[in-house]
Order: sequence, then C-alpha cells, then structure tokens
Amino acid sequence: MTQAAYAAPNQAPPPILEVRGGRKNFGAVHALRGVDLVARAGEVTALVGDNGAGKSTMIKCIAGIYGFDAGEVLFQGEPVNITDPAEANAMGIEVVYQDLALCDNLDIVHNMFLGRELKKGIQLDEQAMEARAAEVLASLSVRTVRSIRQHVASLSGGQRQTVAIARAVLWNSKLVILDEPTAALGVAQTEQVLQLVRRLADAGLAVVLVSHNMNDVFEVADAINVLYLGQTAAQVRTKDSSRSEVIELITSGSANGNAAAPALSKTTPTANGSNPA
Ligand SMILES: Nc1ncnc2c1ncn2[C@@H]1O[C@H](COP(=O)(O)OP(=O)(O)O)[C@@H](O)[C@H]1O
Ligand SMILES: [Mg+2]
Repeated sequence: MTQAAYAAPNQAPPPILEVRGGRKNFGAVHALRGVDLVARAGEVTALVGDNGAGKSTMIKCIAGIYGFDAGEVLFQGEPVNITDPAEANAMGIEVVYQDLALCDNLDIVHNMFLGRELKKGIQLDEQAMEARAAEVLASLSVRTVRSIRQHVASLSGGQRQTVAIARAVLWNSKLVILDEPTAALGVAQTEQVLQLVRRLADAGLAVVLVSHNMNDVFEVADAINVLYLGQTAAQVRTKDSSRSEVIELITSGSANGNAAAPALSKTTPTANGSNPA
C-alpha cells in the first residue's frame, strides 16, 4: 500500500513519439504551423480536428512521406529526422492510411505481408507467413474472418480495416497511427474496430487515432490532441475533458472563449480525493 501511494498512480507512461512545433508548407499553403503531439506506450491518443486542419499531413510527416520543414521529432526520447517511410517502418512506426492500400485479388496472408514477404531461398515462405498471420490475428482476438486464405475482395469494411491494422502490428511496431479507421463503417463494425484499437494499446503499443467522431474518441482515447488550422490548439486527458469542450476546441481553436492554453492547465480533483503524500 505504501508503495502504491508513492507510485504516482496518475503518472502517464513515457512518450514513444513526441512532436514539437512541427511545420509543413506546400508552396504558399501553410498546412502545419506549429503542431505538437505526445504518443505514449499503452495509450490511445486521438488526433482530432476539422476537415483541412492538417491531421493527414501531420501523420504523413511523422511517417516520412513528407518530413517536417521545421520542428522537432523525438522517438523514445531521441531526436530523429525521418525522411522516408522505410526508415519509419524500421523504427517501429506503422500507419494505416484511409484508403488501406489492400489488394483485392490477394488473400489475407499475402496482404499482411505485402511488399515485405517472407522468403525461403527465392520462393515465398507460405507456411511461415500463414503461421505468423494467424498468430497475429489470434493475438488481437480477431475471430471475424473465416479463413486467412480468403481474398480481401470478399471481406466487409470492418474486416478489411482489421486486416490493415493486423498488418501494421506484424512487425516490431511501437507506434501505430490509424487515419479515420471507422469513417466508412456501420455501428457494429465500428465497435469491433474500436475494440481492436483498444487492444493494440493494451498490448503496449502507442496508438494515434485520427478521428472526426467524438463517440469513438471518448470511447477509446486516453488523451486528445486537437488541431485547429494547422496548429495544436490543445492536448487534454480524456477523463479531464468533455465532448462540448473538445468540439469547441475543434471549431474555434479555444475553449471557454479563451486562448488554447487553459485547456492544458485545467485541473480536476484526484479520483479518490486523497493526497498521495
Ligand atoms: N499535397 C498537398 N499540396 C497542397 N496542399 C495540401 C496538400 N496536402 C494537404 N494540403 C492542404 O493542407 C491542409 C491540411 O490538409 P489535411 O492534412 O489533409 O487535413 P485533414 O486531414 O485534417 O483534413 C489543407 O488546407 C489541404 O488543402
Ligand atoms: Mg485527412
């Protein structure tokens, strides 16, 4: 009991990824004008913002598709400069993009290993890929696909999203970024995908969830990062925030009619009301 009392129960785990003051221009378009992000192991961090706020650009910068023009990126506390996607993958950063980039004419196993196939000599190592794919799907408690040799064309939207997410955790992933994974899904499939997102974090990954949907965000996110016109308006803990506050931040860039800062300094009493000292 004394140990627990001193263990600062509300202390957040160390960040896997940190972005500080990220900027990105496309010619005269200032897409990102100072974005921050903290993604921690074991947590889902929601990245929210209106259309055009810069969410997709930000994750493409993190994933090495563009790279930031200015600002700092820290990976596991070390400054890094990620200039291409293979480099991001090698570090353990995986992104599931909105279009999913799955090949309809290939089965689930081949899609999961697309571009990174396992080989035995010059031939594909089908057995090893199948075993590993089955292992990953089982570890994520995915029970909705009948056969992993099914073509992806025959899958539902939710199953396709599941395959794309499972592909992202096949590798030695530390950070998985999901761009609007539930945008095209119905209620039941959204629920399945959100449970999967939660399991990724519970397995120790840092998860960044890009979303428009406040229901999704408040269901699974531990922290919420709001982008407004290419700038980070606020980073809040979900339990210390409310939907109306986050919606206000998304639409106006500030909460309670103030500048963005008050949302960061907002405090709430500790859960048990006790003093840890
Ligand atoms: N390749 C590009 N060239 C020029 N402008 C772009 C490009 N990509 C994004 N933008 C602009 O950057 C801003 C942010 O876009 P985006 O990151 O797609 O926002 P979100 O994902 O939040 O909807 C928008 O104004 C968009 O038009
Ligand atoms: Mg987008």
